[in-house]
Amino acid sequence: MEDHCGMVYNSMFITTMSLFALIFIFLFTQSLATSNNANENFIRCLLNSTELTSPIAGAIYTPANSTFPAVLQAYIRNLRFNESTTPKPAIIITALDLSHVQASIKCAKKHKLLMKTRSGGHDYEGLSYVADQPFFILDLFNFRSINVSIEEETAWVQAGATLGELFYRINEKSSTHGFPAGVCPTVGVGGHFSGGGYGNMMRKYGLSVDNIIDAELVDVNGKLLNRESMGEDLFWAITGGGGVSFGVVISYKINLVRVPDKVTVFQVRRISEQNVTGVAHRWLQVADKLDNDLFIRMVFDVVNNTNGEKTIRASFPSLYLGNTTNLINIMDQSFPELGLQRSDCQEMNWTQSILWYYSFPPGSPDTTLLSRIPRTLTHLKRKSDYVKNPISKQGLRLIFRKMIELQLPVLTFNPYGGRMAEISEFAKPFPHRAGNIAKIQYAADWSGDGVDLANRNVNLTRVLHEFMTPFVSKFPREAFLNYRDLDIGVTDNGKNSYLQGMVYGVKYFKETNFRRLVKVKTMVDPDNFFRNEQSIPTLPSWRKIRDEVVWIVVVILCLPHLVTITFTDCIGDDHLHMRLSIENIFLTAGRRLELRRGGGEGMGRRWEDPMQSLEVGGELECFGGKEMEEIASK
Ligand SMILES: Cc1cc2nc3c(=O)[nH]c(=O)nc-3n(C[C@H](O)[C@H](O)[C@H](O)COP(=O)(O)OP(=O)(O)OC[C@H]3O[C@@H](n4cnc5c(N)ncnc54)[C@H](O)[C@@H]3O)c2cc1C
Ligand SMILES: *[C@@H]1O[C@H](CO)[C@@H](O)[C@H](O)[C@H]1NC(C)=O
Ligand SMILES: *[C@@H]1O[C@H](CO)[C@@H](O)[C@H](O)[C@H]1NC(C)=O
Ligand SMILES: *[C@@H]1O[C@H](CO)[C@@H](O)[C@H](O)[C@H]1NC(C)=O
Ligand SMILES: *[C@@H]1O[C@H](CO)[C@@H](O)[C@H](O)[C@H]1NC(C)=O
Ligand SMILES: *[C@@H]1O[C@H](CO)[C@@H](O)[C@H](O)[C@H]1NC(C)=O
Ligand SMILES: *[C@@H]1O[C@H](CO)[C@@H](O)[C@H](O)[C@H]1NC(C)=O
Ligand SMILES: *[C@@H]1O[C@H](CO)[C@@H](O)[C@H](O)[C@H]1NC(C)=O
Ligand SMILES: *[C@@H]1O[C@H](CO)[C@@H](O)[C@H](O)[C@H]1NC(C)=O
Ligand SMILES: *[C@@H]1O[C@H](CO)[C@@H](O)[C@H](O)[C@H]1NC(C)=O
Repeated sequence: MEDHCGMVYNSMFITTMSLFALIFIFLFTQSLATSNNANENFIRCLLNSTELTSPIAGAIYTPANSTFPAVLQAYIRNLRFNESTTPKPAIIITALDLSHVQASIKCAKKHKLLMKTRSGGHDYEGLSYVADQPFFILDLFNFRSINVSIEEETAWVQAGATLGELFYRINEKSSTHGFPAGVCPTVGVGGHFSGGGYGNMMRKYGLSVDNIIDAELVDVNGKLLNRESMGEDLFWAITGGGGVSFGVVISYKINLVRVPDKVTVFQVRRISEQNVTGVAHRWLQVADKLDNDLFIRMVFDVVNNTNGEKTIRASFPSLYLGNTTNLINIMDQSFPELGLQRSDCQEMNWTQSILWYYSFPPGSPDTTLLSRIPRTLTHLKRKSDYVKNPISKQGLRLIFRKMIELQLPVLTFNPYGGRMAEISEFAKPFPHRAGNIAKIQYAADWSGDGVDLANRNVNLTRVLHEFMTPFVSKFPREAFLNYRDLDIGVTDNGKNSYLQGMVYGVKYFKETNFRRLVKVKTMVDPDNFFRNEQSIPTLPSWRKIRDEVVWIVVVILCLPHLVTITFTDCIGDDHLHMRLSIENIFLTAGRRLELRRGGGEGMGRRWEDPMQSLEVGGELECFGGKEMEEIASK
């Protein structure tokens, strides 16, 4: 009997299994077929597009083309995303002219394909060439023309040009002109400028975006716009809010800035905790108040001392826009604790100072800036923070102890102040202006493939970031868009994208700028064609709001049983915001949601987890939200 039953059971099992397998295979091939069809239709649409002004076939790569992997890898700048397990695009379009960009957008929209735009490929999280769903890459590396006018002191530069090419083309015409942007020559203009763009002249001239005067953008309808035709709101958005949420940036027009014939650079290093703590402590008092011509960076890493023990090293790679005599005078007056000597200083032209700052070997020719092959490539993770108050010596000692424990992550402090503090935090989407001493970059670099190794090293940066909480900005914990970090929040671009977007949005842009970006986004791309894991969300449509009103009514009806919430000023204009504010409190985090438990615990905590801490009778206290002045519990 038992055997018999077993048989029945087994054959039922087998039948069930094969049924499942059949269904699975059916569904799988169906979905493969659908996505293959979508890709084929997309390519057909491109080839047959009426607006092409030059043939596009030579710009379309699929895995069937033997050069596909090389084209994909050519602009992967983080080897963490160069693994066999990294999702790959189905198609790469290396646009050769404007009509290819326009056709790509129109056909992708028609066939509902996800598009990733890539200029220089330096996104720290690989967002320009990786996605967790089927996608294609619109690659702009052929858009690299640069036209410099010294008479006008301006230049037009295309998105796929590199910073090195831009610097070189400027200095080819004038050695006393330059542009404030990052010193890494292979970084692309498209991502760098649209995300803010800073370099070692920021204390003198602000960010790249503070010196952009016009732009060309292809919008979701495939239309080419300039500053005049796109309007000031959209122009504002693509100068610091990330281009990726709004369209495809084709080019920017910039104002060149003046640089002296000769600039001075120096690198000073201090080892031993005693010496490092004193100098670092002083740096935090003065670095943002020094002469605007002077940029002294501070870098902490962990090295072996002469006894082979782990210790902290502080390095101060610096640029002064003037001569050594002046520099020594300034340092003697403002920062003698660094002990800068004349012999530490080197005078050179500005072009050479870029190569020096990025650690190219001495004597590298100016043309080094033109190379598109990075000097080094590693697996990496980056995070960012803002320092608003000097850190005490005791605090520094704690940080150093933690760094020695973790070993890998390096902290780089970039001094603010100067021009940065004079520009309004609303002038551009980038909000980190007056009141910041420095921005910190967390960096972990390693060699070696594998998810386990990557997870281990990424974790180290998270542990250090968590440890730094008492020393950096709060409410919100600010972050720099160009230091892309998916840890601070992501969107699935679904129903809750506004709330999800707010979590990282207020960190990158603060609340007012974030709201303005959302308004622009809703206006220019209401169907959210231009999207990624951290794009600007649209406002929820009225239809969705109607559906959710039901839910809100339920919440409001239940609310009195849980908490009483008093808004003295319900975020101004309309019910939508009122609704979001209520929903926020329950569902997600944002500046206004940073509540903490009262009752003497004294521990700040985030409201990240749905409902997690909403306990009947829990004491809630609100920190400094303008809009929501009182939250009381019942
Ligand atoms: C080695 C290195 C050094 C760096 N140094 C600095 C520095 O000194 N200062 C600084 O501010 N940052 C620095 N960064 C960060 C860098 O500015 C950002 O990663 C920037 O986004 C890179 O631009 P990209 O075009 O090379 O990158 P990509 O990966 O091509 O693009 C970055 C993002 O912008 C989008 N995008 C790209 N092109 C366009 C376009 N044409 N239109 C619309 N959206 C577009 C992409 O989809 C992606 O979301 C550095 C990064 C690296 C890897
Ligand atoms: C190309 O477009 C024309 C109309 O412009 C259409 O008639 C034709 O069927 C299209 N061909 C393909 C292969 O899609
Ligand atoms: C890729 O292969 C297809 C089909 O052979 C061809 O039409 C296309 O031109 C190739 N792409 C490039 C960039 O050579
Ligand atoms: C990226 O991965 C490919 C395939 O494994 C490899 O051939 C290539 O060398 C890698 N690129 C770099 C810069 O390591
Ligand atoms: C530079 O000028 C050339 C020739 O007029 C033009 O084709 C190109 O588009 C210009 N580049 C930019 C970035 O405007
Ligand atoms: C800068 O200096 C280097 C080395 O002295 C020289 O070769 C180069 O031509 C100079 N570049 C400019 C733009 O002056
Ligand atoms: C500390 O710095 C001073 C000069 O700034 C130097 O003379 C001394 O050797 C340093 N001490 C150690 C232990 O490095
Ligand atoms: C530092 O010391 C460790 C052993 O503690 C060794 O493995 C490492 O190679 C040393 N690093 C350097 C840069 O010398
Ligand atoms: C340094 O620059 C100043 C102007 O900023 C100038 O007056 C001085 O003569 C220069 N000194 C030297 C040694 O070049
Ligand atoms: C992250 O690293 C810390 C410190 O090394 C360790 O204690 C912790 O377990 C790690 N967490 C994960 C998830 O690996």
